[in-house]
Amino acid sequence: MKRRLMLAAGGAAATAAGAFASASSMCENLHHVTVLKDTPLTRSLQTLMRDKTAPRSQFVIASNRLTHLLIEEAMALLPSKAVLVETPCGPYEGMRLPAESSLCAVSILRAADCMLGEVRVMMPSVAVGKILIQRDEETALPTLMYSKLPPDVAMRQVLLLDPMLATGGSAVKAIECLVEKGVRPENIIFVNIVCVREGIAAIHNKYPQVKIVTGAIDPILNSKSYIVPGLGDFGDRYFGTD
Ligand code: PRP
Ligand code: URA
Repeated sequence: MKRRLMLAAGGAAATAAGAFASASSMCENLHHVTVLKDTPLTRSLQTLMRDKTAPRSQFVIASNRLTHLLIEEAMALLPSKAVLVETPCGPYEGMRLPAESSLCAVSILRAADCMLGEVRVMMPSVAVGKILIQRDEETALPTLMYSKLPPDVAMRQVLLLDPMLATGGSAVKAIECLVEKGVRPENIIFVNIVCVREGIAAIHNKYPQVKIVTGAIDPILNSKSYIVPGLGDFGDRYFGTD
């Protein structure tokens, strides 16, 4: 199953060492996928998080800073409007992003709550939804346990947050939950810190219109469906439950 999904994404497994260097070029043949540019800044933030000796404070700060950059990328995909404003010295042809009131940030619990804090710093009045999905530690299969979404979520652009996209099972389940509430797949932007092509394929096989914004595409999953090289268990490292 996993192999079939990888092939569906058009990707051959790369080596772990080559994962990062090729992340931005891999996205060129992936429709609706935006990968954060691989710069010394983004790579250093990824390095701070991925280092298994990183103290929790370092992990948390790097994660928050990366999330900030990812949310800015995601916002850039929202439908914007040309506007003309007057500076103190003359007219300026600007752009206006949609109002916070037309957006909704949805976190896939537990780990995505780490990203939600940063979203709320940037957009304090944004509506928030929560979907609790637990991935079975043995089978990696997701179970939907709880959801609470704004009643008018179907009318909103949704930023769906989850730091890790591995098999894609959790993300697909969360998207199913949103679609059942009337959200159109083209109004969903999935915002993520580390993924593999298999997860991207799982989302796009079912919901090709969903946009994905990610910090990095890593090459493979291990036998326990953890991302390699990845960063281990995100929620455990962020919340100190490891
Ligand atoms: C992690 C992560 C994703 C999921 C990704 O959550 O935050 O939701 O695994 O894996 P998948 O793509 O194979 O579904 P997990 O269920 O481990 O729980 P946590 O949020 O409590 O860490
Ligand atoms: N969840 C994580 O936290 N890490 C992985 O590598 C995969 C799923």
